[in-house]
Amino acid sequence: MDQIEITGGRPVKGTIKISGSKNSSLPILASSLLTKKRMNILNVPNLSDIHSMVNLLKSLNSDIKFSDGEIIIQCKTPKRNFASYDLVRKMRASFLVLGPLLARYGNAKVSLPGGCAIGARPIDIHLNGLKRLGVKFMIENGYVIGEAINGLKGARIILPFKSVGATENLMMAATLADGKTVLSNVAQEPEVVDLGNCLISMGANITGLGSNEILIEGQKQLKGCRYSIMPDRIELGTFILLVLGCSGQLKFINLSEDLIDHYINLLKKFKELKLEKKTKNILLVKSSEMTYKAKNIKTRSYPGFPTDLQAQLSAVMTKAIGTSRIEEKIFENRFMHVAELNRMGAKINIDGCKVKIKGRKKIYGAQVMATDLRASSSLIIAGLMAEGKTIINRVYHLDRGYEEIEKKLSMCNLKIKRIKN
Ligand code: EPZ
Repeated sequence: MDQIEITGGRPVKGTIKISGSKNSSLPILASSLLTKKRMNILNVPNLSDIHSMVNLLKSLNSDIKFSDGEIIIQCKTPKRNFASYDLVRKMRASFLVLGPLLARYGNAKVSLPGGCAIGARPIDIHLNGLKRLGVKFMIENGYVIGEAINGLKGARIILPFKSVGATENLMMAATLADGKTVLSNVAQEPEVVDLGNCLISMGANITGLGSNEILIEGQKQLKGCRYSIMPDRIELGTFILLVLGCSGQLKFINLSEDLIDHYINLLKKFKELKLEKKTKNILLVKSSEMTYKAKNIKTRSYPGFPTDLQAQLSAVMTKAIGTSRIEEKIFENRFMHVAELNRMGAKINIDGCKVKIKGRKKIYGAQVMATDLRASSSLIIAGLMAEGKTIINRVYHLDRGYEEIEKKLSMCNLKIKRIKN
């Protein structure tokens, strides 16, 4: 298994091209099942999660070509609507094929996704919403078997929680339902909006994207489209936090104006970070101070502080002046990085869904283990902040969500390289 070797203690300086969004690409790839026409999807990142979704869609009778960031995909008939455990267990976002398969074929058999390192990750909101659209479910031998013998019927659905995946599954299913669907208390993440905009370019009738309520007028069928994926919000956030932890500056290109404005607003409290919009696609981030104050943060659904940056923030706050308190409000077990950071000399205490991070702690390089995608990026940040050498094991976690991260960072005055084993 590959490792990442880092020698820390250097300021960051350079330019990074942000890749296309993983969490937008995955549902948009799943949406290709809604039409028998061809889709051209651009700015797709080359990540292992994307390849997992590509393999799953190939098993569902899709023709797929993936090169230079473009995916050409077409799901022809005859139908194949069985998503096997072997493929779904590799990545829980595979469950996003359920809604499109039910909408396209009226029945589907999809493996239950199971939990993962950060939590049980149930799918009750997905299933209860699809039931409201007329689907009958059976759970058998670890599979969800869904049937809508009279096709999907539009309905009013109030989500008990702003689930990103459930919003996406239900929005996709509703595009081909008979009549109008109103989804309330939906997730408002930009990746959900990106999916919605792609569906609209396929001929779906959707209004309210980005608000608390989405209206979908079902269509008989959808057409193909050519669509470019939004920039990756979490990759950008990870690198912005890196500037705070290592000090220096980074210029980010290939962004959207919305994403730049979002981070300028989200990080207003981080007075030590200067975020400057150079153009509508370029953001310059500087951290002039060598020190920064402790922060108290709660992770929230969008537009709040994202759970996907919680681990990275924890690493950065080890050096802050004072004690930081971070509360994880979205997942029940997203502190797998804490033990590894403490092995590097951090002093982080876990109390239920909160962590207390003692500041001004010098951290030292060590052999560490990645446990999940965002925990592994927090170890990258810690290694770059630490004194000495860090070796990160199980970097396959990292490769799920960060495209060529060591290449991008090694071009920014940082000592980081991959050891191929
Ligand atoms: C998406 O996961 C993202 N993944 C996650 O990013 C992200 O952390 C999460 O949204 C929250 O923003 C993709 O987009 C592929 P949820 P998802 O449904 O859809 C509970 C990363 O690092 N819940 O919003 O699975 C659930 O247990 C990944 O890129 C139910 O209880 O997230 C969790 O506590 C990690 N029942 C909370 O809601 C359900 O039916 C948030 O889940 C569904 C969810």
